[in-house]
Amino acid sequence: MSEIYAKIAGVGKYLPEKILDNAYFESIVETSDEWITKRVGVKERRMSAPDEFSSDLGAKAAEAALNDAGMTAEEIDLIILATVSPEMYTPSVSCMIQSKIGASRAVAFDINAACSGFIFAVSTANMFIKSGAYKNALVIGADTLTKITEYKDRATCVLFGDGAGAAVLTATSEKTGVLGTVLGSDGSQGNLLTCCGLKASEEDTERRPFSENKRTIWMDGQAVFKFAVKTMESATIEVAEKCGVKVDDLNLIIPHQANKRIIEGARKRLKLDGDKVFCNVEKYGNMSAACVPIALCEAVEQGRVKRGEKLVIVGFGGGLTWGSALIEL
Ligand code: UT7
Repeated sequence: MSEIYAKIAGVGKYLPEKILDNAYFESIVETSDEWITKRVGVKERRMSAPDEFSSDLGAKAAEAALNDAGMTAEEIDLIILATVSPEMYTPSVSCMIQSKIGASRAVAFDINAACSGFIFAVSTANMFIKSGAYKNALVIGADTLTKITEYKDRATCVLFGDGAGAAVLTATSEKTGVLGTVLGSDGSQGNLLTCCGLKASEEDTERRPFSENKRTIWMDGQAVFKFAVKTMESATIEVAEKCGVKVDDLNLIIPHQANKRIIEGARKRLKLDGDKVFCNVEKYGNMSAACVPIALCEAVEQGRVKRGEKLVIVGFGGGLTWGSALIEL
């Protein structure tokens, strides 16, 4: 039997309309457009409406990806959604999306690997497709971080935004699509980036003096920063080696969009030219699992990567987690 590969049949994105610019943050906390631009590289981020949640954003991105692939929702047999901001514990966001878009044949489940989530979801869908279990998968990253942001904490509130991105992966006998993946987790460093659910320890409570239910994001920015630069470099090199491809021969790297300085730091360590690394953090900020698929969608829309070319998607985040995937478009 010939080997099965998972190719990218379509990509899509959705961004809520409301824009929060740096002037808005200057009006609510002690910060400046200059500090945010220099230290983070963000100018604007999107904010979901009060009645707009991860499943609403994810469903719209999924429909855009289906449209791009020229496929209907009924053709999808697997939906994997990555998020850290589900509106409900159950049903899952993926089940809500399955119902919203009418993908009645699909098996649907969520995964949580924070900002690495979309890469974990691509890797999982790839395994299911390669095994022959499913043929057409919708892989979605959707997050509404502004709903779990503490707007009194200047160290985090300027960073986050909302959005969703999606890709349709479909089985093919050609050697193309997802050619290799690398995933990693280090739970021992989990307390560097947290958001409480049902439990808040004494430490969690101290870290969130303003938040009543403690369901807001807290992080040790500097520690995550160092981890991010190192892992983006190592996960890119590791996946390229696994696939027998030189990093120099990659057409584009699409990293998680947390901070322009992190992306620049990783780019320099990989000795790559600026045009080889995609960056849209200026427009949207950090949208956790949605960053990579939205960046992938925009890279395709802008012709930064074309059919037959090779790219690496790479991310890091809470957990701690990290991951990369080498894809031939
Ligand atoms: O998606 C994965 C998770 N997130 C990340 O990957 C984020 C990783 N970390 C970062 O991007 C950066 O660490 C931050 C952007 C969060 C912070 O930048 P930094 O250069 O590491 O700043 P810092 O934490 O070392 O703080 C430097 C100074 C401090 O003041 P003092 O103590 O030097 O007087 C902060 O209080 O900057 C201050 N500061 C701010 N000043 C103006 C922190 N936030 C702000 C702010 N505006 N918004």
